[in-house]
Amino acid sequence: IERSFVMMKPDAVSRRLMGQILSRFEDKGLKIVAMKLRQIDEDLAKEHHGEHKEKPFFGGLVEYITSSPALTMVIEGDDAISVIRKMVGATNPKEADIGTIRGDFGMDTGRNIIHASDAPESAAREIALFFDEEEICDYSMSDNAWIYE
Ligand code: GTP
Ligand code: MG
Repeated sequence: IERSFVMMKPDAVSRRLMGQILSRFEDKGLKIVAMKLRQIDEDLAKEHHGEHKEKPFFGGLVEYITSSPALTMVIEGDDAISVIRKMVGATNPKEADIGTIRGDFGMDTGRNIIHASDAPESAAREIALFFDEEEICDYSMSDNAWIYE
């Protein structure tokens, strides 16, 4: 069992795509263990995307992420990090496969709908950055034996 940090970016929220995107994760058999709609401030956006601080698009990225509320989540499942990255698709929505979230809903890299952790280390860092441990729910799903062998 693995946990990933997933965030529907302001475009997903403002384009009323939250329900559709959340349904994809539920349909897949993943488990939502934390979720919060929040306005991300500049400091938090800069910290979250710190790896890109030298890139030319950094200012625009921070502006985009802080422009209006985002939906932050912790999602759990077997190999959740790589499974979710696959569901999210390539960074550039024009290149993302049809059937992926970015491939189906987006057009521009600078408006690419959703973020998902790319490795166990970044997942742990991002979860701790956005959630307190007591905000992450521990519960079991009754259909577990139908999802996993
Ligand atoms: P995240 O899940 O959001 O981290 O996306 P990613 O892992 O697919 O891409 P990456 O970590 O390389 O970049 C983080 C985010 O910065 C992307 O999702 C984009 O929103 C933005 N970004 C990355 N590259 C570019 C770029 O060349 N131009 C613009 N405008 N934005 C970019
Ligand atoms: Mg990334």
